Amino acid sequence: MGETAKFSIEGKTIELPIMKGTDGPDVIDIRKLYAESDAFTYDPGFTSTASCESKITFIDGDKGVLLHRGYPIGELAESSNFIEVCYLLLHGELPSAAEYSDFEHTITHHTMLHEQFDRFFQGFRRDAHPMAIMVGAVGALSAFYHDSTDINDPQQRWISAHRLIAKMPTIAARAFKYFQGQPFVHPRNDLSYAENFLRMCFAVPAEDWKPNPVLTRAMDRIFTLHADHEQNASTSTVRLAGSSGANPFACIAAGIACLWGPAHGGANEEALNMLKEIGTVDKIPEFIQGVKDRRYRLMGFGHRVYKNYDPRATVMQKTCHEVLAEVGDSDDPLLKVAMELERIALNDPYFIERKLYPNVDFYSGITLRALGFPPEMFTVLFAVARTVGWIAQWKEMIEDPVYKIGRPRQLYTGAPKRDYVPVDKRG
Ligand code: CMC
Repeated sequence: MGETAKFSIEGKTIELPIMKGTDGPDVIDIRKLYAESDAFTYDPGFTSTASCESKITFIDGDKGVLLHRGYPIGELAESSNFIEVCYLLLHGELPSAAEYSDFEHTITHHTMLHEQFDRFFQGFRRDAHPMAIMVGAVGALSAFYHDSTDINDPQQRWISAHRLIAKMPTIAARAFKYFQGQPFVHPRNDLSYAENFLRMCFAVPAEDWKPNPVLTRAMDRIFTLHADHEQNASTSTVRLAGSSGANPFACIAAGIACLWGPAHGGANEEALNMLKEIGTVDKIPEFIQGVKDRRYRLMGFGHRVYKNYDPRATVMQKTCHEVLAEVGDSDDPLLKVAMELERIALNDPYFIERKLYPNVDFYSGITLRALGFPPEMFTVLFAVARTVGWIAQWKEMIEDPVYKIGRPRQLYTGAPKRDYVPVDKRG
């Protein structure tokens, strides 16, 4: 055995192997712990638990580092594009020119939905939150694409991965159009991934959507920034759902449900609502006091893993300025509130002591609003982007020889065994 960790429990010394990754903390392999000690570990929220081995994404939260397959997110956001990042996450390497063009062609030619699928949307109330539609509609893909639900067939796993990445923007745009009360716009194969999505969202029969390179680039960058983030709550949900052998469409629907929460993907919607609620710079001190009194949290701040500036937030802030300048909104009062809020928070001991920095969601809400999206769409856009991360992590799990159904244990603190009491004998 290599390096080990030793500890004793009830007089017995237990020796456990230590696993080493390429980077990041060592991991104590506790798989034999229960058999050898009759004890479980306790870690609600998984703050000290590695749930799997992965080669996809690495985060060093203290240094503010995020790497996809070894490449820093800042470099990818600056020099690559979303489709190339999808290829990288799925395949492990950057594509050659021919591989890129094949992959882009495959994704572009899977964007259409089965004609009958459109009827599915009509079942939702007009005012349904687009995320509610996403949870239902993406799960329903399993009913339309049976020929890619055999998880034991590697070819079907690839087809389902391509279908999900390709069809997600079409479903998201339909959720948006339905919510707006406008007719659906079909995908077009001559447009890029981001252009196609923006057109499906903003074209109307009376007027086609006009491409704007700055806004398209911003949309693509927002997708790139959200593509993967190792074992976050929704990705762990996808892995856990997939560990039972459930089909990939159902697993991604589970991931979308988890992403919806305000502590995760719902934070950008909440962050924008918060900025609107503050409204003007002079209200910030009062708002900060409310955070310190624990009446509410500063949305778009803090992260389970980053105890430093979220590297995605740096790119997001730059993109936000570019988009606002392009749409002629550099004087947006919410941007002023955001910048001043950030300045005050980063100099306040409450936030410094707790290592609370802006995360990716702090500036994404203002940017998405300037692109023309209402807050209800923000988490939907996150889901479109994160689909590639979810599916890459799902594939990695299925292809990992040590993969088994995820089944955590518990510390039971409920009533001890007792006998049933008939209703007339209960006091
Ligand atoms: N505002 C004010 N205080 C905060 C915040 C915040 N946003 N986040 C954490 N804290 C405080 C918290 O009260 C606690 O203080 P104390 O030690 O005095 O009790 C301390 O910081 C640690 O907080 P925690 O809840 O134990 O930390 P966590 O790792 O469980 O939470 C988080 C991470 C992201 C859920 C949390 O920071 C949060 O709620 N942030 C706001 C929501 C948000 O912006 N989420 C988006 C995350 S990035 C996108 C994504 O990955 O989905």
